[in-house]
Amino acid sequence: MVSSPKVIPTMKFFADTAELDDIRDLAATGLLDGVTTNPSLIAKSGRDFMEVTREICAIVDGPVSAEVVALDHATMMKEAEVLRRIADNVCIKVPLTVDGLKTCKALTDDGTMVNVTLCFSANQALLAAKAGATFVSPFVGRHDDNGMDGMDLIRDIRLIYDNYAFETEILVASVRHVVHVLESARIGADVMTAPPKVIHALFNHVLTDKGIDGFLKDWASTGQSIL
Ligand code: E4P
Repeated sequence: MVSSPKVIPTMKFFADTAELDDIRDLAATGLLDGVTTNPSLIAKSGRDFMEVTREICAIVDGPVSAEVVALDHATMMKEAEVLRRIADNVCIKVPLTVDGLKTCKALTDDGTMVNVTLCFSANQALLAAKAGATFVSPFVGRHDDNGMDGMDLIRDIRLIYDNYAFETEILVASVRHVVHVLESARIGADVMTAPPKVIHALFNHVLTDKGIDGFLKDWASTGQSIL
């Protein structure tokens, strides 16, 4: 099948954290499009799940992923019902299992955003798209740790989604460093979620710092001021 180029208006940046100060700090840059959390990040924050999720949803306008912890469809639906009442921008996160995808289909059919998480193969991503997922989260860092190339997974998913014009957004997760972000942008991933320190590292370049130092030194030698 010949694929037509997908129109991607921007690459979205999500923060992968439940730390409110970090989220506020990144939101103030104007470059933050959403937040992803998971049970491990909630545990690390030491905060009450419902309370911290409500506070995150009030800081960012975009999707805030909150993950169910049940393994069966019926209980996932009950948990999702509680979570989606927190705020309009809650995105229900479900694992890539049979019950997770049943839950995904039921929720997205009903107009609720769903992020299908723990995706480690292109076939799993195909299933998530067929289940109507809003986002699929392939974990590139954990894939790398497992002796695979996480970015190859993103390339395969991009190809498959473009072949069939699936609207599910590829949300690159388990991002460990700035090269993961660069490669995601090259491939045309829709979203990447990264720990705040990785997002901050995107701003840095030694030649930027050196250039500022040089300009300021030369400017001082002119004795002028702008204000
Ligand atoms: C994504 O939504 C996950 O919360 C996250 O990216 C997992 O990253 P980790 O592999 O660094 O735990």
